[in-house]
Amino acid sequence: MPLGEGILAVTGPEVEAKRRYVAHLFKDIARGYDRMNTVMTGGRHHAWRRLAAHKATEGLSGIALDVATGTGDLALALARQPGIETVVGLDLVGGMLVLAQAKVGRTGCRDRVDLVMGDALALPFPDATFACVASGFSLRNVPDLRGSLDEMVRVLRPGGRLVSLEIVPVEGRLLGPLLRCSFRRLVPLAGALLVRDRASYAYLPRSVDRFPPAVRLADLFRELGLLDVGYRRLGLGMVAIHWGIKP
Ligand SMILES: C[S@@+](CC[C@H](N)C(=O)[O-])C[C@H]1O[C@@H](n2cnc3c(N)ncnc32)[C@H](O)[C@@H]1O
Repeated sequence: MPLGEGILAVTGPEVEAKRRYVAHLFKDIARGYDRMNTVMTGGRHHAWRRLAAHKATEGLSGIALDVATGTGDLALALARQPGIETVVGLDLVGGMLVLAQAKVGRTGCRDRVDLVMGDALALPFPDATFACVASGFSLRNVPDLRGSLDEMVRVLRPGGRLVSLEIVPVEGRLLGPLLRCSFRRLVPLAGALLVRDRASYAYLPRSVDRFPPAVRLADLFRELGLLDVGYRRLGLGMVAIHWGIKP
């Protein structure tokens, strides 16, 4: 199996190999990351993050965790929600965190967002720490999806909410193949034209192809013991927000 593809669970050396592959990839694309997001989503990613942050924090108060925070947009969206005291944004890649730190400084949220280097598969926090745990466009990139969801649930306090915002395989007999085909061609082309990196952006459609469909990800949330699990599709069904409550 090629490295770097989103898969439910891999073991031992494969975990380490994918972790290293993904870390190199995001180190390389860090500087052009925000620009590519804006182009690929037509600027919609900010609204999707606001929706995910609202869903994650609705009716809750306390500390929020953004797993694999990247350049910090979801962490900032969480910090702007009522009831949220502080947000911890964690990422494996220092280059992404440096950009997140600069953005947090520019937006005047320095005292409300803490950035930490760490691994989604071994979160450096005690059990039941956070009111909500969110991740944006990140679950495809972790080498062991179930393992990282287990970790997120572990650090969530009872009654807290887990939320994922992610690109998912498009379903539908006509729209599915059409969008998949366009995505496979256009994303690497945009990577080549905008940030001169076709190879890294060829990884993105592959990682979506290997990711579970939205309905299966919801099943996985239920298998982890989460309650009131649901999801909402966005962006022609290419993106989904999933949620569930820790009993
Ligand atoms: C597609 S970016 C998403 C960034 C951000 N959450 C967003 O909404 O734009 C994926 C992020 O996952 C991080 N990442 C990948 N594997 C990780 C791991 N095992 N632990 C923590 N972060 C990881 C990468 O460094 C990268 O910043």
